[in-house]
Amino acid sequence: MLNSKIIGSGRYLPKHVVTNFDLEKMMDTSDAWIRERSGIQERRFADPENGETTSFMAAEASKEALKMAGLTAKDIDFIIVATLSPEMFFPGTGCPLGVHLGIPGIGAMDIRNQCTGFVYGVATADQFIKTGMYKNILVVGAEVQSAGLNMTTAGRDVAVLFGDGAGAVVMTSTEDNSKGVLTSHLHADGNFMKDLSVENPSSGTKPFVNKEMVENGSVFPHMNGRMVFKNAVTRFPEVIREAFDATGLSTQDVDLVIPHQANERITEAVQMRLELPREKVFRNIHKYGNTTAASIPIALNEALEEGLINDGSLVCLAAFGSGFTWGANLIRW
Ligand code: ACO
Repeated sequence: MLNSKIIGSGRYLPKHVVTNFDLEKMMDTSDAWIRERSGIQERRFADPENGETTSFMAAEASKEALKMAGLTAKDIDFIIVATLSPEMFFPGTGCPLGVHLGIPGIGAMDIRNQCTGFVYGVATADQFIKTGMYKNILVVGAEVQSAGLNMTTAGRDVAVLFGDGAGAVVMTSTEDNSKGVLTSHLHADGNFMKDLSVENPSSGTKPFVNKEMVENGSVFPHMNGRMVFKNAVTRFPEVIREAFDATGLSTQDVDLVIPHQANERITEAVQMRLELPREKVFRNIHKYGNTTAASIPIALNEALEEGLINDGSLVCLAAFGSGFTWGANLIRW
């Protein structure tokens, strides 16, 4: 039976660094408040008006991933992009990404599962590869969230948490079943859809978007922070344990957990609940903030660069986010 494995990884971060002190000049917040509540020190903001769009960043991360994989774009059979911040309401970002890479015509789809999007993407690519439908798949998480944040005091609870960036992996087929994606577990519960959401534009009104929506702030993200925190610290460990149980392995066997970088306090709580040492749970939120669908592939790329993942390493990707959605992929490197 065929299995899938990751053979290339890349990232792209905009050059423009926005520190907590920069945010202090835009809204009533403080470096101390942001650090204490989230662990974030700085984040990157893209410049889409000068070409740094979601699909551009996705393409830059993809080129790096292709290079590591030793492949060219022409070797890719299918594209999966996870994003909540596409440059157009439709079509999906996979379409312009194919053009940036010089491979228009191959299949491309977007996944709209916010912070859990990349985990859903890896699970989807894994299934396409296992059935033999495709050999090489590009899975990308890319976000330009800064364009959709309320950068005033009214939006401070959300605005200080998020940043922009992109990460990508190349997945390919292997006949070695001891390596690659061992199992994936995906969940969603729309009962919590309003607890972390952007209400408008919406097909519930005609037209989709109007001046009133901009004025009343419903085009900006809304978050019930306590509800997010409470569910995240339960669902993360739960789905990670589910993945280990499915393979007969113990969470103590893990070499590295790469959680979606939601918030340092959430990551800390997950690490404690799983009874893992700090060095087994990857963190880079202090540098980039929460980059939603891009956070896991960016973190994975940095973990590889830092030599934290080697041949045979057991790696768990795990995410929780808007929906609520949550999921995990367990991978033997
Ligand atoms: N700067 C300064 N003050 C702020 C800011 C800010 N950026 N944002 C909110 N505040 C104020 C509030 O107005 C409130 O003030 P008040 O008490 O005068 O009304 C106060 O800070 C609330 O602070 P806390 O006491 O810490 O509130 P709480 O205990 O409810 O915690 C928090 C709020 C930090 C958001 C918490 O719920 C949390 O950590 N939630 C997790 C949310 C999260 O990290 N999501 C990540 C993104 S989603 C994802 O990736 C899954």
